[in-house]
Amino acid sequence: MKRKLLSFLLAATMVMGMATGCGNTSSGGADTGDAANSGGGEVQVGIVLPTKDEPRWLQDQKQFETILGDAGFSNQVLFSQGSSATEKTNVETLISKGIKVLIICAQDGAAASAAVEEAKNAGVKVIAYDRLITGTDAVDYYVTFDSFAVGAAQGQYLIDNAPSGSDIPLYLFAGAATDNNAFIFFEGAWSVLQPKIADGTFKIANSSEAEALKDKAELSRDEIGKIIGQVTTDWDFNVAKSKAEAHLTAVGADAKGDVLVLAPNDGTSRSIADVFATDKDVTSYVITGQDSEKASVQYIIDGKQSMTVFKDTRTLAADSVSMAVDLLDGKEPATDSTYNNEKIDVPAKQTSIVVVTKDNVKAALIDSGYYEASEFTGLE
Ligand code: BGC
Repeated sequence: MKRKLLSFLLAATMVMGMATGCGNTSSGGADTGDAANSGGGEVQVGIVLPTKDEPRWLQDQKQFETILGDAGFSNQVLFSQGSSATEKTNVETLISKGIKVLIICAQDGAAASAAVEEAKNAGVKVIAYDRLITGTDAVDYYVTFDSFAVGAAQGQYLIDNAPSGSDIPLYLFAGAATDNNAFIFFEGAWSVLQPKIADGTFKIANSSEAEALKDKAELSRDEIGKIIGQVTTDWDFNVAKSKAEAHLTAVGADAKGDVLVLAPNDGTSRSIADVFATDKDVTSYVITGQDSEKASVQYIIDGKQSMTVFKDTRTLAADSVSMAVDLLDGKEPATDSTYNNEKIDVPAKQTSIVVVTKDNVKAALIDSGYYEASEFTGLE
């Protein structure tokens, strides 16, 4: 935690150094409520986020505004609202405002290549934020959480909190196939769950593709794609709900009772948990999540969601800002890994993650200053 705070302060200080002379007034931004802090003039750093309809991305927006805005660094945050076309228009808008660095979390990792190629052609440095953009050499850097560790932590939690016995029903759900992260999360979860499936401790309840691959420790991207094809939530709460309902309707009594549910993130976890909670033949469920969204933290306090993964957006935003500042300064940013995007190895900076349960919710999220205790009820 100390290290994180340090890097946060470091980034903020670097931004302050760079920002000398920049205005700190808000120009109001687009009518959609998108944030702008460009002092009425040119925008140096443009930020594009996938949607404001998921609390996760509002957390990131808040961090960017805090770090860049407070320092008077000219910037603008635009949302793509689930549309690659809007995303491309957003990038074009930011290019026309003179940005030097684009920080972008893609709606669709492959489709976003066209937008970032435009940015590259306009001389803009591109930082992929959280989600990798694939199939292009127009991504300069990638700032990400350790997504494999996210999936592995989810899988390990299910193992550690499973009821005793064998053939314990395991429901698998995944993110959107257009998001490279969905593959990495699943790969991480599979890396720990697969031995338990292969030895008969767990029995997959809702994916014939996963069942057919249960003896394979490592899956190819195509194989993971086939499983995701059956169990995707599309990162959409409604899809998650209807898929959970359909899957529970399709199974027999042997796939009910005390069950385990791999849910890919908090929004989908709450939807799926609500469905499992109302099925009279499901006696108990253990369900995962990620993002530490406020609503899920409350679900965890209330015993309706079992865990979440805390991805500290303060660190991720600070890391990308620090990278942007280096780039504006003509310096080579520090990286610690590479991610292959099917075209090039993209230099990356990774941030670690923290598992949050009822037991450490206060220490991880309140004591670290991420949320206020008053935002929740029943917190001890
Ligand atoms: C992010 C998750 C998020 C999901 C849905 C992923 O790429 O890493 O934090 O929950 O997208 O928006």
